[in-house]
Amino acid sequence: MCAADIFAADRNLALELVRATEAAAMAAGRWMGRGDKNAVDGAAVNALRYMMNTVPMSGIVVIGEGEKDEAPMLFNGEQLGAEDEPQMDIAVDPVDGTRLTALGLAGAISVVALSERGTMFNPKNIFYMNKLVTGPDAAEVIDINLSPEENIARVAKAKKKAMDDVTVVVLDRPRNDEIKEHIRKAGARIKLIPDGDIAGALLTCKDQGGADLLMGIGGSPEAVITACAIKCLDGNMQCKLWARNESDAEESRKRGLDLDQVLTIHDLVQGDNIFFAATGVTDGAFLQGVRYEGRQIRTSSMVMRSKSGTIRFVDSIHVPKKLSELSKVSGIDYSTV
Ligand code: FBP
Repeated sequence: MCAADIFAADRNLALELVRATEAAAMAAGRWMGRGDKNAVDGAAVNALRYMMNTVPMSGIVVIGEGEKDEAPMLFNGEQLGAEDEPQMDIAVDPVDGTRLTALGLAGAISVVALSERGTMFNPKNIFYMNKLVTGPDAAEVIDINLSPEENIARVAKAKKKAMDDVTVVVLDRPRNDEIKEHIRKAGARIKLIPDGDIAGALLTCKDQGGADLLMGIGGSPEAVITACAIKCLDGNMQCKLWARNESDAEESRKRGLDLDQVLTIHDLVQGDNIFFAATGVTDGAFLQGVRYEGRQIRTSSMVMRSKSGTIRFVDSIHVPKKLSELSKVSGIDYSTV
């Protein structure tokens, strides 16, 4: 092994990624409550791309915002990073919760994950997955092929609590109505979230986070990003691809995807060299949102690496006056509006 390999293996790239999620959160946070989802996303994309191009790696966006078109987006296949090595896959959501931010609601985060090249699952044309997520205490007992009632019973047993004490996070969508009925039949509690199921899944791994499971159908890109985070936190996740209609199903068969396959956390992201960073855009249970305080901007982030198991919470103070220099070179406006 040469010196460069040792350096690459030991480097915690998540510490570099957090500068990108901070920059995206600060840019997006300016648009909180202004009712303009596209402006939230556009600001975050520009900031994130600019900072990701300073990270010492050669990254390819595997989970981005779809195919390249005219919209400002981090497109699948886009190359990011400042060096030729290490070669990494990138999963990114500049803001998970663009609508939450536009409406000034809680729970939006900016998020990026990295893993070694070729290790992230590509959901191709399937936009949604059925997800089952839990934290370390019940990691061994979940099984997406069992009923929600059975999973709740198993998690309750593993966590030594009654089924009525189990809380399940569910994304508030009509397609999840059936699963809600099953959860209610089991006697468990439901925490319904309007958007942002990456942050919702993280709650299952937080001490006193108030949630034991996440269940239901949400976005596929968010599933891969969630798997990266949950691997770092030693929890567990299983998914199944979910076709919206027969033409989705037909197209996925043509592309060689199996809708009945259980995707384990290791299928969603292979290996154990995963880096994850997230910064709060609006206030959430895990991370506070961006605070603009005149002479200072404050951000709260989490930074994780699966190999070492290290979880860092990073509170940063940024100086808008100095960011105006960055604004000049990057074209991202951090100034007070
Ligand atoms: P974005 O803010 O990135 O658009 O995602 C928000 C979100 O709620 C995700 O957390 C979730 O997985 C997905 O949208 C669900 O998709 P849809 O809104 O189409 O049901």
